[in-house]
Amino acid sequence: MKSSVPGLLSVWELVLFSFAEAATVTYDFNVTWVTANPDGDFDRPVIGINGKWPIPQITANVGDNVVVNVQNLLGNESTSLHFHGLYMNGTAHMDGPEQVSQCAIPPGSSFTYNFTIDQPGTYWYHSHTHGQYPDGLRGPLIIHDPDSPFLGQYDEELVLTLSDWYHDLMTDLLPGFISKGNPTGAEPVPQNALFNETQNLKVKVEPGKTYLFRMINMGAFASQYVWFEGHNMTIVEVDGVYTQPAEAEMIYLSAAQRCSFLLTTRNETTANYAFVGSMDTTLFDVLPDDLNYNVTGWLVYDDGKPLPHPAFVDDLDGNTFDDMTLVPWDNQTLLGEPDKTVELNVIMDNLGDGANYAFFNNITYRAPKVPTLYTALSTGKLATNPAVYGGYTNTFVLEKGQIVQLIVNNLDTGRHPFHLHGRNFQAVYRSAEDAGTFEDSNVTEADFPSVPMRRDTFVLYPSGNVVLRFRADNPGIWLFHCHIEWHVASGLIATFVESPLDLQNTLTIPKDHYEVCVAGNVPTVGNAAANTHNLLDLSGENRAPDPLPDGFTTRGKVALAFSCLSGILGIAVVAWYGLAPDPAAHAGVEKRVAEADVVDSSVGDIGAGPSTAREFVMASSSGDGNRGARA
Ligand code: C2O
Repeated sequence: MKSSVPGLLSVWELVLFSFAEAATVTYDFNVTWVTANPDGDFDRPVIGINGKWPIPQITANVGDNVVVNVQNLLGNESTSLHFHGLYMNGTAHMDGPEQVSQCAIPPGSSFTYNFTIDQPGTYWYHSHTHGQYPDGLRGPLIIHDPDSPFLGQYDEELVLTLSDWYHDLMTDLLPGFISKGNPTGAEPVPQNALFNETQNLKVKVEPGKTYLFRMINMGAFASQYVWFEGHNMTIVEVDGVYTQPAEAEMIYLSAAQRCSFLLTTRNETTANYAFVGSMDTTLFDVLPDDLNYNVTGWLVYDDGKPLPHPAFVDDLDGNTFDDMTLVPWDNQTLLGEPDKTVELNVIMDNLGDGANYAFFNNITYRAPKVPTLYTALSTGKLATNPAVYGGYTNTFVLEKGQIVQLIVNNLDTGRHPFHLHGRNFQAVYRSAEDAGTFEDSNVTEADFPSVPMRRDTFVLYPSGNVVLRFRADNPGIWLFHCHIEWHVASGLIATFVESPLDLQNTLTIPKDHYEVCVAGNVPTVGNAAANTHNLLDLSGENRAPDPLPDGFTTRGKVALAFSCLSGILGIAVVAWYGLAPDPAAHAGVEKRVAEADVVDSSVGDIGAGPSTAREFVMASSSGDGNRGARA
């Protein structure tokens, strides 16, 4: 296996990269359970690769062929890998989501991802199997570019991941989250935030140098505000799209977003400086006692000097850079009037089982019996008919070359980071919070920027709307979903089936892809219900639970019914809703106790080489760097 690349790259290495020929980069990944304790609070099982966690970074150059041989040695869970942000042009079957572009890889099976990368930038890879990546199967994917417009402008590059951390396994949290015991759909709240999957991260820097930081939020749920004391950030890339340089004091990065920025160090080494990641607590329905929403790291100029506590910051939004003001480096202009408009309304509501689900246009996603790609490949001319993909996949069929406009109206009061597979998109419009639907906003073509920002994950504000645009130039099956993993589980997913007849003419599915279906007993031909005779007969498809009976049609009514009726009817109503524990209370009972004035974190440093999970226990057990930035 190619060893994980440390965060630091010298100029010399960058020069070497620029002369490198397109190569094949091969990774052999055995996916296994390991034990880790990244926040120093709690040992727990995590999903590692080749016996290690954090998992290795995938590194390649633009033009390289990347081969990832996955062997699932978990024993008790299926898995898959998605390469977040990669276009997978010509290799849509390598995109990763289970029941979409492949069958999940069952325990004991192997599967090879093989694709060519023709895009530079900062990406990541993660499991795309039911709620799994927050258990640890998430890592950076960096594509170096000999033609980067910023290549001469920095001395070294560093990868900085943000994430949130739960003490409980997703398999323990998910049943309580989607249950009649949680009728409001309150998402489990993480215990801690992490930098590079640890805490008290020390980043050694030299004075008077410029660093390219590649920042990735690999979290399950929390967006984070990030700032560096005493230093400015100059943004040069978001989600793989180079931007005109833009100065920022504070960056907001949702789950799955990336941002690269240049940071020039000070000329003297008289002090060290804190940098802080602070979780956006407006996303959380409750703030449990064991929640520690800040994580601190330090730019270390001098090991002998103290590591200062970060100063208190209270106005987060007021200082935060607005990504809508970014201008792509290539100045790609606004795509013309759309050929096709898709409008999606985001709704959270209860179904007849009493649990809370997430909906696009009254449909909560249910995985089809046949992976959507295999339905596209096995239904002939009917592959252009959205009906064959079933009634619960929110499928929209796109034709080659169409300019597609996607309007998303948030009828929910939470922020949602939406991600589209297979491309980046023009972020044409984002309303303020509480603006209502796009129609309410009264916006016309003339209000759109002439050179819109592009990215692959974009935050929609509470009760607001966004408009995205892209050209359908990449045949494949591309999910559009909220990247909060809880909302993936509760169904906030739509499916774009792009140029399915082209897929039939161009794609050949490798044998090992079909073999994992056989091993997992998943059908690979027919419509979403695995019907091969009458392709328009969906009987037997996977369905969402039935709606609530009349009079119980909204979350509000359910909550009201719960609070009033239970008083009146007592035990009968309680029995109907069940007595499952509150998952928020269940989400963790461990409390942070680490308190010390001196932070000793000799491990977990960038550039110190791969650390084992065990080392992180020691790294974070003496630190208190996560306190004090926000009360
Ligand atoms: Cu980061 Cu559907 O993916």
